[in-house]
Amino acid sequence: MELRKHPVFTYKGNALTCGGISLADIAAEHGTPVFVYSADALRKNYQRIRKAFAAAKPLIAYSVKANSNAAILRVLAAEGAGFDVVSANEMDRVLACGVAAERIIFAGVGKTTDEMARALRAGVKEFNVESPAEADRLDEVARRLKRVAPVAIRVNPNVDAKTHKFIATGKKENKFGMSLDAARDLACRIGELPGLRLDGIHAHIGSQILQAGPHAEAADILDTFLATLKADGHQLRTLNFGGGFGIAYSGEQQPLDLKPIAATVIGLAKKHGLSLLLEPGRSVIGPTGALLTSVQYIKRGSARTFVIVDAAMTELIRPALYEAHHDILPLVKSKKGEVVTADVVGPVCESGDFLAQEREMMLPAQDDLLAVVDAGAYCSAMSSNYNSRTRPAEVLVDDGKAYLIRRRETKADLTRHEVVPEYLK
Ligand SMILES: Cc1ncc(COP(=O)(O)O)c(C=O)c1O
Repeated sequence: MELRKHPVFTYKGNALTCGGISLADIAAEHGTPVFVYSADALRKNYQRIRKAFAAAKPLIAYSVKANSNAAILRVLAAEGAGFDVVSANEMDRVLACGVAAERIIFAGVGKTTDEMARALRAGVKEFNVESPAEADRLDEVARRLKRVAPVAIRVNPNVDAKTHKFIATGKKENKFGMSLDAARDLACRIGELPGLRLDGIHAHIGSQILQAGPHAEAADILDTFLATLKADGHQLRTLNFGGGFGIAYSGEQQPLDLKPIAATVIGLAKKHGLSLLLEPGRSVIGPTGALLTSVQYIKRGSARTFVIVDAAMTELIRPALYEAHHDILPLVKSKKGEVVTADVVGPVCESGDFLAQEREMMLPAQDDLLAVVDAGAYCSAMSSNYNSRTRPAEVLVDDGKAYLIRRRETKADLTRHEVVPEYLK
């Protein structure tokens, strides 16, 4: 069976490696399941975006929600990244890495009063505001703190991102952003709110976008809208075009070609005299990570063959949540073996607990190790303790060395925050 040539996790002889290190060695040292990331690939992905948009010198604000591990944030901070956060706790993770607040953009539809106050005190670069009610609250909090909040209005351009419906964010039925009419009204009203200063507009139409069309369509709509705002007398400074750049999750896919999008977006920013902000997440971290797992059992059911592994939806929920595809590579490649169509499933008590369904693969043996690749984004960050599972260890490979960047959770971590009332003891 032909195995995919992955850009980050490659075979040296028969052994799957990352940055020259055998993944089997990492599994032996840290156990499974374990996440492994390549720092080198992380830097390359960030620099690829920086180069593509270099003519606009944008602030490339890595979207922390994709993967918020402190070591990952520090690698990107050292590359000069900015950061897009959707909670004050994400903001604090970034600040703890020594990043200046003016490189942080605060987004999200449901910012609380407390979060607004924390971000205002820190001095973030911009708040992406998504509703009039949020603008009112931010104004109140800013005035109370005697600050002025820099604001970008998030518009919802009603564009089909041609991606899974749960990661489309720019259609009018999505909770994100505001219609152009509502955004225009809010832009005018911000002039009456002394706690706010209108700096720009923001749009993010969805994630894992693989075609140029949706971004081009959004850019067109923003072009007209920016002209309208200018005619209304607003003098803006920033254009935040979001993220959403798709990656290849299989050999049949190609990562989104950034060239045509960069040309369009740079042209748009220049035309309106705006400085450009971007918020990529998946395209920076996604391909750099793999989840290593060991085969527990092979179970031949009457309708399906199941490869039961020790990783589950608790570590990698994307297949269950988005019907997402992740390639699965053996840690040791073998030429001989039975090719089967199997479901790769975890031990969690849910029929939705699968990492792959009806996947053609070389049937592994019990205790064999597998790598679920392209697991850098929205995997560890979405992990849970369901079924009282402990979150796995995480390892960063950098310059030929493997570093533990998150300890495996312990049994004690599971009950750390539980309180048993006296009368039940
Ligand atoms: C507002 C916003 N910006 C940036 C991102 C990052 O998107 P991606 O990881 O697809 O680049 C998201 C994710 O959905 C988002 O909602």
